[in-house]
Amino acid sequence: MNKKFLNTCFFLSLALIFLPLTAYSADQRPTVLANTCAGCHGTDGKSVGAIPPLHGMKADYFADTMKAFRSDKREGTVMNRIAKGFTDKEIESMATFFSELK
Ligand code: HEC
Repeated sequence: MNKKFLNTCFFLSLALIFLPLTAYSADQRPTVLANTCAGCHGTDGKSVGAIPPLHGMKADYFADTMKAFRSDKREGTVMNRIAKGFTDKEIESMATFFSELK
């Protein structure tokens, strides 16, 4: 994947993440949170490209992975920065949401 594409994705994602979070700062509805992931992971986590899909992912794996990205235990390109924007509660809320998507 080329760097320019990832950079574009990253800046788009920042806008996608921070706009909804500032508009709904106390909002932990998973659909609102998960919209910020769609730009890269596809609508409802159904990725069509090289980025891994999220739908149907086991909730435990999802939550552990997001926390590992957040603490830099797992290395990534963009996910470390993205994961740092979410609380445990928001991660767990998204974990349930994505695990229930077919
Ligand atoms: C800028 C594009 C982008 C956005 C936005 C994005 N991701 Fe990712 N995601 C990636 C990439 C690329 C990877 C592969 C790891 C890496 O390079 O960071 C990844 C990997 C992951 C993985 C690990 C998948 C696996 O199979 O182990 C999870 C879980 C994940 N992302 C969740 C999310 C969630 C939840 C959001 C929204 C809050 C999100 N991502 C938003 C690009 C993105």
